[in-house]
Amino acid sequence: MQPPRFLAWNMITKKFDIAVLGLGVMGRNLSLNLADRGISVIASDPFQSALEAAKATLEPLVKLTVRPEDAVAELSVPRRILMMMKAGKPTDDLIERLAAVLSLGDILIDGGNTHFRDTEARQARLSERGIHLVGLGVSGGETGARNGPALMAGGASDAIASVSPILSVVAAQLENGESCYGAFGPGGSGHFVKMAHNGIEYAMMQTFAEIYLLLERAGKMSPSEMAKLLSSWNSGETASYLLEVTAKVLKARDFETGKSLVDVIRDKAAHKGTGQWTVESGLDLGVAVPSIAAAFEARVLSSRRQTALSNDPKTLPLNVDVGSLANDVRAALPLVMLTAYAQGLALISEASASFGWNSDLANAAKVWRSGCIIRSAMLEPIAAALQSGSHDLMTTEFARNLAHTGELSLRRLVIAATSLAIPIPVIASSLAYLDGLNAPRVGANLIQGQRDYFGAHTFERIDKSGAFRHDWRNDN
Ligand code: 6PG
Repeated sequence: MQPPRFLAWNMITKKFDIAVLGLGVMGRNLSLNLADRGISVIASDPFQSALEAAKATLEPLVKLTVRPEDAVAELSVPRRILMMMKAGKPTDDLIERLAAVLSLGDILIDGGNTHFRDTEARQARLSERGIHLVGLGVSGGETGARNGPALMAGGASDAIASVSPILSVVAAQLENGESCYGAFGPGGSGHFVKMAHNGIEYAMMQTFAEIYLLLERAGKMSPSEMAKLLSSWNSGETASYLLEVTAKVLKARDFETGKSLVDVIRDKAAHKGTGQWTVESGLDLGVAVPSIAAAFEARVLSSRRQTALSNDPKTLPLNVDVGSLANDVRAALPLVMLTAYAQGLALISEASASFGWNSDLANAAKVWRSGCIIRSAMLEPIAAALQSGSHDLMTTEFARNLAHTGELSLRRLVIAATSLAIPIPVIASSLAYLDGLNAPRVGANLIQGQRDYFGAHTFERIDKSGAFRHDWRNDN
């Protein structure tokens, strides 16, 4: 893709198109990516050690200044400043430091994994001085930053209009020329979409961890056998970046012991908070995100397993044919992925309605098609299904078809795992989610009866409208 036209003027005036402040792995790689696409970049880092470390990789493609303020001074107007700092205090400290040099119309872009509420609080503070802040979700890690990440922006429309020409060329590009850059409305919408992306990422990662456990414990497969099996699925509906990553991790060998690397990695997962925020947002907005919550809680539980009750679980006898197990895993996988995508998208849809963002749901699926961690072949038909105007992926024809082909396999996996005491919280919650949506009754009528019994909370009736109470005392 060609660099935006307005940038030619900056070549004449010798001003820079954008400043990148924060030269850790992401900042460095984004700077190089921007420069490669014909965008002039000036960069700095508030920490001298980071600046020194970046010199060899960035110069002479990117001009470096010792002080972040000096980089800002060399920008064309409106000044665009991409902050690639750690979320939280380091970002606040940089904004404060720049306060003296920022002026009316300047645009700060925060490319960190910032909570959308923090973005909105900063936007409110900065807007008093006429300074814009665009919250930018950046996904794809180091390789994405270097070659084209998925980018999710949110902020005031003037600011978005000014940064979009740059961001859309720097993002991952699809073969059809579409860019994996999207703007999702005002406020913290961009960071919210990135947070939902990460929630889906947690659910998909945990799904593959559960598949690994199932194939190991029920299928008696070795990591390298699994790696081959998973690699053979990386086409069609099951193709995804995380499948590819999983196969590569399963294939890797430990240089020290010669064993499969996965067998020497401690069985305990860490997290940096975005999965937790997604679950919290689900609770706040009243959107069920059970697969994401199960994935997050599985990580938490993995750190607390010293409190395990027994090393000798009681299992049920089960004859497992490894070929059938593998077929079931492959057939159920798209359905499990669908429920994770559906929950993340439902969260975005509700946030957009509650906060007045008017975010385009189909565009989220489109932006995630390349560059990001949750990219998969399924996102193309998901985007198409949402483009027809539906706000609920689970009610689309696409979802119905996937449920039709994967449901029985999914049930068999849950039966196998439960019988053999293999923990598969995300796969199981995916089935519970489907059943919760599809079952003719979910038992909530009884809940309403209980609520009315002890709390006089009333219930609705199926035969007439209104709120009713029952006189429980005279019932016996
Ligand atoms: C991405 C990733 C990236 C990172 C997160 C999640 O989209 O490139 O989501 O942002 O992996 O920091 O990290 P945790 O697993 O530590 O929460």
